[in-house]
Amino acid sequence: MKIPSSIWTLLIGIVLTLVSLWYGQNHGLLPTAATDEAVLVDGLFNTMMIVSTGIFLLVEGILIYSAIKYRRRAGDNEDGPPIEGNVPLEILWTAIPAIIVIGISVYSFEVYNDIGGFDPHAVHEAPMTEDFSMTMPGAAIAATLSDTPPSTGANLNQEKSDEAMQDPATAAVRNADQIPQKRNAPGVGSVAPTIGGSPEKAGQPPELRVNVTGLQYAWLFTYPETGVTTGELHVPVGREVQINMTANDVIHAFWVPEFRLKQDAIPGRQSEIRFTPRVAGSYDLICAELCGPYHGAMKTQVVVETQAAYDQWMQEQLVASSETFNQAVAVNSADLSPDEFLNPYTKDMGIQPEIINQVHTAHHH
Ligand code: CUA
Repeated sequence: MKIPSSIWTLLIGIVLTLVSLWYGQNHGLLPTAATDEAVLVDGLFNTMMIVSTGIFLLVEGILIYSAIKYRRRAGDNEDGPPIEGNVPLEILWTAIPAIIVIGISVYSFEVYNDIGGFDPHAVHEAPMTEDFSMTMPGAAIAATLSDTPPSTGANLNQEKSDEAMQDPATAAVRNADQIPQKRNAPGVGSVAPTIGGSPEKAGQPPELRVNVTGLQYAWLFTYPETGVTTGELHVPVGREVQINMTANDVIHAFWVPEFRLKQDAIPGRQSEIRFTPRVAGSYDLICAELCGPYHGAMKTQVVVETQAAYDQWMQEQLVASSETFNQAVAVNSADLSPDEFLNPYTKDMGIQPEIINQVHTAHHH
């Protein structure tokens, strides 16, 4: 008995769909999804993977099948039959990808929205009070969209710049005057780029804020609640974190692959990301912007831990920072070389002394 080709097509279609659905969710290409935002991004990635797997198998399958079935046999020296175009087929294979691409665009825009990328409603929903209004996505967008920036937005850069330059996290390094830096960057637009933050939390203050400063070649973290400064980022599981970042010298980029978030740290400006960690662990924070000869060494750890472990760590930092402060006061009065001056800070902040040395070497030659 001969099985009709329509049955074959149906069977192959079912197998292709099942294989694509399975592989799209079991490809194992991505690291742990350690934040709520990462789960959304992975949903989009997996959908694209399902579609791509299906198309790949279909196209390659037909190609291999045809190459074998219609190969040249021995003694066959004739031309192939002349085949005209097939209009319905061409309409079909234009329409299907168009629908797929539009579907993916809508879905990716949804995900971008859900992680707080673009939320026009925030303009109205955001409570415009005190300094908080300056960090709201809506405020940034309002400043971008209007021809004449609102009076509060006009000096946003200068304010951000001043804020960054007063950040206690980098005061010691800045005062040492050894690291080249731009003290302000006026007139580069008034956008404070913001990504991250789940929709249900939009318009609400984050549960934890951390200020991050990127400098050649280290990351410094300041916890405004406690004033603690560290070289390693610790955050508790399940609480929404807002990172306010800036840079001291050149553009750096805050990238944690497990968080699926990347944001530029720009001198003289403040950029933000929000995320809610969901899986405890230690993840690499990598600088993702070529920022100088030691860019590759600009790495640190993000530790996601339980609230109890976080609180304990914070206590230890408080003790350590008061010790550092006493040490700093002691060494400040003496006329020391930059290395000696920076050592007490770098040790406690987990920055390798070699990196600071490299900074000096790079600067002097
Ligand atoms: Cu900082 Cu690359």
